[in-house]
Amino acid sequence: VQEFTVNFKGLSKTIKAPKGSDLLAAAIRAGLILNTACGGEGLCGKCRVIVKKGNIRDERSKFINDRDRKKGFVLACQTLIEGDLEVEVPKESLEVHEKIKHESEEFTKGIILKREDGFKFSPFVRKFYVELPPPTLDDNVSDLERIGRELKGSLDKVMLSAKLANVKHLSEVIRESDFKITVVVGYRDGELEMLTVEPGDTTKANYGFAFDIGTTTVVGQLIDLNTKNILGTRIAFNRQSVYGSDVITRIIYGSEPKGLDELNEAVISNISEIIEDLVSANKVNLSDVYVISYAGNMTMMHLLLKIDPTNIRKAPYVPTTTVFPIMHSSGLGIEVSPKGISSFLPGVSTYIGGDIVGGVLACGLYENDEISLLADIGTNGEIVLGNKEWMIGAAASAGPAFEGSGLSFGMKAVRGAIEKVKIDENLNIELGTIGPDKPKGICGSGYIDLLCQMLKRGIITKDGKMNRGIKSGRVRKGAANYEFVVAFKNESSIGKDIIINEDDIENLKRSKGAIYSAIIALLNKVEKKLGDVKKIYIAGGFGNYLNIENAIFIGLLPDADRDVYEFVGNSSLAGARMALLSHEAFEKTNEIYKNITYVDLGSEPNYMDEYIAALFFPHTDLGRFPSVRL
Ligand code: FES
Repeated sequence: VQEFTVNFKGLSKTIKAPKGSDLLAAAIRAGLILNTACGGEGLCGKCRVIVKKGNIRDERSKFINDRDRKKGFVLACQTLIEGDLEVEVPKESLEVHEKIKHESEEFTKGIILKREDGFKFSPFVRKFYVELPPPTLDDNVSDLERIGRELKGSLDKVMLSAKLANVKHLSEVIRESDFKITVVVGYRDGELEMLTVEPGDTTKANYGFAFDIGTTTVVGQLIDLNTKNILGTRIAFNRQSVYGSDVITRIIYGSEPKGLDELNEAVISNISEIIEDLVSANKVNLSDVYVISYAGNMTMMHLLLKIDPTNIRKAPYVPTTTVFPIMHSSGLGIEVSPKGISSFLPGVSTYIGGDIVGGVLACGLYENDEISLLADIGTNGEIVLGNKEWMIGAAASAGPAFEGSGLSFGMKAVRGAIEKVKIDENLNIELGTIGPDKPKGICGSGYIDLLCQMLKRGIITKDGKMNRGIKSGRVRKGAANYEFVVAFKNESSIGKDIIINEDDIENLKRSKGAIYSAIIALLNKVEKKLGDVKKIYIAGGFGNYLNIENAIFIGLLPDADRDVYEFVGNSSLAGARMALLSHEAFEKTNEIYKNITYVDLGSEPNYMDEYIAALFFPHTDLGRFPSVRL
């Protein structure tokens, strides 16, 4: 196939691309992360780039007006390369790695601090400095045994195994460093393994990463394994999104030739970039990162480990495995310490993955005497209900709306996202935006506030339609249907009005309906009432803020006593971090996943009725929401 050169101007990135391939794929290969909220389907209009020179083939899109089209604006995902190109990427089309606000790090740290006392601090990888007595004719045990003997005082389990590769150069290192060495010990399947031996005392440098691999976002945290301190957090859109925004399209793509490789490379590059970014920001050496702990949904784990996910989407929906062995990080193609290891939280089934098991671990649901509930409002919306004796779990097909995906101005909870909205009687709006910039879009918690306020002020009706009779310059007929202007062009940082339209509201309504009805269906399943639930943990990628009151007002969450609610942030990441810091906690996840029974909502007799009844704000039956006054 003929190849052309694509030069991304101003970013000094040039690559070769085959004739007829799309510009989005070229941008990905050039290492650029474009906004691709719809997964390259031409539906979100976010991947706009400007073709300055060269031949292309593209279709007209409603997202590009005539004026912009003349300037060369195209949607990268809908544009095919037909010649050497010079392309400019506008700032707003670039997805940037953002640090989650400090408060949210504090928040997830709060969960673990509250709960970590239950688990002994025993990180997956530990380092011990030893000064070995040199061998003599009387004391002539082997080098490995000598190390084991010295470590006896520090380790509860004395049995220390070592792989052949890890002992080959042992004698050399010991002698070259005058018998003063640091032994790096990793935990693997109930055993302690000597991963490597380093000359001198290197105990101060011992780092690990916790990762939450979500369908929409990948979040990583660098942790000092000596102090438990979180040194930094990074969040990025999952690069697999260009191959499809939901797990099903990715599984389909993964079944194509090379598809699995490409999906795997996409997420590995996400992970590697976050690692590189955080180690360089904290002046940590890559070779001092010895362990990575992952939590993620079942499909994400299959794609991360390059395991064929095909059967996950075929009835009876069986994954290849729900538990994953501890392995060397290098085996995944991730560059950290060459002897570094990776561990993965186990899952229950296709629909309840390690991310949810991690959440159950982090909020302690599995050990509560009373009944509690965890709702993780992510791409899917997983719910676990139970106590220390029993747990049931289900997944609602909520879609990624509350993660900011698939909506006109949706974005994740990072800098520039509107996260709080207040509207007064005169329809004046007060916005709370993450960071110092003017707003760029709206994140999940912003949408919850927005819907609630629009409902309160009569801007939208119970069924989610814009009130045509309202007198305000903010309500107008837009390109697609009626819309409401949240921030005018001059108040935004993207040079255009930020709006919410009736399609967005419909999308959000379906998402909230799916989550609410899943909660009720699980309660029905065990014949319990809302009042029987003493704690409701809400998890999800909402950044540092979620207004529970407003979430109840729109009917996303049931009208329970407010003090049963606790917003726990990214509980999957918290679970991965707990497992990283304590292999006892990791062992606990092996019990948790076995104790959760998966409930298929589709086979529950009343689920569909519940769902349809929930497609109103807050609900068809206002009796279910006594505290909501419309
Ligand atoms: S329009 Fe191109 S990614 Fe959505």
